[in-house]
Amino acid sequence: MIIVIDGPAGSGKSSTAITIAKRLNLQYLDSGALYRAVTSLWINAGKPEKGEFFNILTGIHLQAEYTDDVFHVKANGNDLTAEIRSQEVAGYVSEIASQPEIRSFINAVMKKIVENGIYIADGRDLGTAVFPDAFLKFYMDASIEERARRRFREMEDSGKEVTLGDVEANIRERDRTDQNRKSDPLKKADDAILIDTTGKTFEEQVSEITGIIEEKLKLKH
Ligand code: CDP
Repeated sequence: MIIVIDGPAGSGKSSTAITIAKRLNLQYLDSGALYRAVTSLWINAGKPEKGEFFNILTGIHLQAEYTDDVFHVKANGNDLTAEIRSQEVAGYVSEIASQPEIRSFINAVMKKIVENGIYIADGRDLGTAVFPDAFLKFYMDASIEERARRRFREMEDSGKEVTLGDVEANIRERDRTDQNRKSDPLKKADDAILIDTTGKTFEEQVSEITGIIEEKLKLKH
């Protein structure tokens, strides 16, 4: 069973999904981390042409697991967890993620992962393209200024040297690429519940979503 949260960068999807996973004892899947991992592999391979890179990918076994408060990603046993959060990866990831062959590769990895367990996952197209029959779908959003401020604070806290302007430019550009790509663009699914987090506290958004999930779980039993 899977619950999905889609939305743009900085809307609060991943921190919200992690907190809900802990409260309701669900497993967490970060689909963006898988796109970031593939982007890291492409950078490490010397940024090859598409065709050459798809060939390399067919020999890659991606593993992902949320443990000890971190979403770990490994490719053929090599730990990519730290490097997938770099600004270089953030700069290329949307371009890499716009390629249909990459999307089907990641979708197959995700479908395999969620076979075992009850998951809450966050991404861009989970409710529309990957898990159209999800148990519940949410779409989180917030103004671009607020999303940039949140992401900037996060990066500052983790010791990264960036400016608010750079972070906002990156988010704006990723929004544009994610919404305009031909292959499964970022879009609210018709049956997704919209959660606008502008001006909401973290606890408010978590309680709102948790309440909806608990209500639906009750109806199911
Ligand atoms: O955390 P943040 O929202 O900044 O990004 P992320 O979830 O780590 O995802 C990084 C990038 O991967 C996004 O900007 C999208 O281009 C891509 N992505 C996607 O295309 N489809 C998904 N289901 C998840 C991420």
